[in-house]
Amino acid sequence: MSDPIVYTRHDDTAILCIRNPPVNALSHAVRQGLWDAMDRAEADSGVRAVLIVGDGRAFIAGADITEFGKPPLEPHLPVLCNRIEASPLLVVASMHGVSLGGGLEVALSAHYRIAQPSARVGLPEVHLGLIPGAGGTQRLPRLIGAEKALEIITSGRQVKAAEALDMGVVDRVEEGEPEAVGLAYTRDLLAEGASRRPVSELPAAPAIDWDATYDAVLAKGRGQISPAIAVRAVQAASELPFEEGLKKERDLFMELMQTDQRQGMIHAFFSERAVGNLAELKGVTPRDLKAIGVIGGGTMGAGIATAALLSGLEVVLIEMKAEAAEAALDRISGNLSGALKRGKISQEQFDALTQKALSVSTDYDSLSDVDLVVEAVFENMDVKKEVFGKLDAVCKPGCVLASNTSYLDVDEIAAATSRPEDVIGLHFFSPAHIMKLLEVVVAEKTAPDVVATGFALGKALGKISVRAGVCDGFIGNRILASYRTAADHMVLDGATPYQIDAALTKFGFAMGPFAVADLAGLDIGWMTRKRKAPDRHPEERVPTYIDKLCEEGHFGQKTGEGYYIYSAGKRAGVPNPKIAELVAAEQQSLGITPRPFSDEEIVRRYMCAMVNEAAKVVGEGIARRPLDVDMTLLFGYGFPRYWGGPMKWADIVGLPTVLADIEAYAKDDAWFWQPAPLLKTLVAEGRTFDDLNKDAAK
Ligand code: 3HC
Ligand code: NAI
Repeated sequence: MSDPIVYTRHDDTAILCIRNPPVNALSHAVRQGLWDAMDRAEADSGVRAVLIVGDGRAFIAGADITEFGKPPLEPHLPVLCNRIEASPLLVVASMHGVSLGGGLEVALSAHYRIAQPSARVGLPEVHLGLIPGAGGTQRLPRLIGAEKALEIITSGRQVKAAEALDMGVVDRVEEGEPEAVGLAYTRDLLAEGASRRPVSELPAAPAIDWDATYDAVLAKGRGQISPAIAVRAVQAASELPFEEGLKKERDLFMELMQTDQRQGMIHAFFSERAVGNLAELKGVTPRDLKAIGVIGGGTMGAGIATAALLSGLEVVLIEMKAEAAEAALDRISGNLSGALKRGKISQEQFDALTQKALSVSTDYDSLSDVDLVVEAVFENMDVKKEVFGKLDAVCKPGCVLASNTSYLDVDEIAAATSRPEDVIGLHFFSPAHIMKLLEVVVAEKTAPDVVATGFALGKALGKISVRAGVCDGFIGNRILASYRTAADHMVLDGATPYQIDAALTKFGFAMGPFAVADLAGLDIGWMTRKRKAPDRHPEERVPTYIDKLCEEGHFGQKTGEGYYIYSAGKRAGVPNPKIAELVAAEQQSLGITPRPFSDEEIVRRYMCAMVNEAAKVVGEGIARRPLDVDMTLLFGYGFPRYWGGPMKWADIVGLPTVLADIEAYAKDDAWFWQPAPLLKTLVAEGRTFDDLNKDAAK
């Protein structure tokens, strides 16, 4: 590798340019290079100042995350930052692109900071299950006060240059080439006779109510610990001399480095980036995408249209009747008004999107020029086939024909056209303009460039796209069906839906399965149970107590009653007393004596069901890699990010333990708890799911 620090000299200023593409992460070589370059500048006669800049697209994106978990090599970053700050020379950082984590910490150890208007700074370590570990929790509060520093550190958000200037994180914001602007600033400072200004020598930030802040941050993190630990590090900055505070920060950082949460979050970071990295897409050019068609303007169609409009695509939406078309237009305008209110688009953009980029019609011929169509009509095979027949007749050659079906067979849908190679599943999640997940469902005859186009659309819409194969429910809904069943079985056997929801939110899920069912609508599960009834295996246990509620017309939140009762204007419900009666009646008719469940057993059974089905999904090739399952659950099903996903959770807990639990549960219900062959193989070979991810990356 070429030298990661390029040393040049301009009059009395030494320029240290970091060159470690793509984002100038602070690898061992960069740290050593910076250290040596500081030595060289200090020994270089006539040099009075050092300017640190980054080459390429960023100043520095932070510590090199790929080095985490390996033995740390000297010079360690905190020591390097202290060395930079302690230099007798005047040190200036000129920041562009991002300065994140260790990158901002290097900048904070400079004596002055100048940034481009487009620059962003932040301490995102909490998103990796860590806290800043190179003085960030000690220097930032000294510079801008404990409250502002805590907000930046515990949220991990990226702060734009103008706000950073306002807060005092940077001293000047100026447009231009980073090196030239930085050099001019350094010259000004030298000309003014500006003195060195080490942040560590600033007075400590005044105290705040640390315990109350800790509690509030812990509660907000839904089980995530690193933001709360960051509060203690900032507390140390207020209470201890700098050196001792730094040591406290390092100790807390190293403790977090050993946690499961750190492992889970770093797995999520890399998996999020690896998910679209598929061998089958290498060298395949996606088809052009300028205008798309959407069939059906209900919940999903309107959301998909909104997402497409917001990313600059033209949209032609088809509905059955004029009134339905009008209603679809209202839905889309409503969604876009939300974006307008949140400041995501301007009034002019709103007008252009609704008046120019979108057209709504009842005539399929309007689709003759679109590049891709997403069908989002009722979940019924006959209706879908009829729609695809019509699309086949009107769409131009090469147009991608996609279905948003949740469960139906995409091969069968493709067979309704004369061009099955152009047909694919694009499974969005509700609300489609907000949820990040897109399952790209590849059917038997789908052409490679159609798959690439599905991923290109996902990227254009800002989604995390996961490749899935065809089966009932693809990756996500198939696994959901399994862990939902485990939850239903626990209700039959004696746990209440409310205990289960509480145990799982405590585990870190955004919502428990019964609250989710109420939100999605109980009619969906009811219809699915009816659809599957004819093929049901006699040993399959299917609770029917909730069907009785559906028969009375109660479908959850939308009707005000489900597992919970919802009073007007309130999102959260209270337990529905009818449920206990219905469950008791069913237990009696089945001869079940209810037994108590601990929260731990609830989580364990739920997670084992999820992992077991996920292992089947990977084993059958429906998901290419375990990480594809992890990202599906994280971005589509509210799985806690700090566990990395269900497969990562299983690796952390240990696959032999998970298999042993499944085998133990199978003693009571051998039909449901059939261990996945892949899980058995991995246990026998002493391997993990992550080993499969690594195999796939080779
Ligand atoms: N270390 C190692 N690799 C990194 C990295 C880092 N800090 N940041 C990004 N990369 C890699 C990515 O994995 C990706 O690799 P790939 O091309 O092989 O997939 C490549 O750089 C480009 O990254 P993105 O695809 O994410 O590019 P974007 O332009 O979309 O985003 C970014 C750039 C905003 C820098 C984003 O990558 C990011 O948020 N990175 C992480 C920043 C971070 O968390 N920094 C803190 C690190 S922890 C720390 O500093 C501890 C310290 O306090 C001691
Ligand atoms: P919906 O009932 O809200 O909307 C369906 C719309 O399609 C209606 O407005 C209807 O008028 C229109 N429509 C029906 N036949 C049509 C035709 N031949 N031509 C043009 N328009 C037609 O349904 P929803 O919830 O939007 O679901 C649509 C599809 O998306 C289904 O396949 C569903 O399984 C899937 N899906 C639903 C999710 C959800 O959470 N609601 C999530 C992911 C996928």
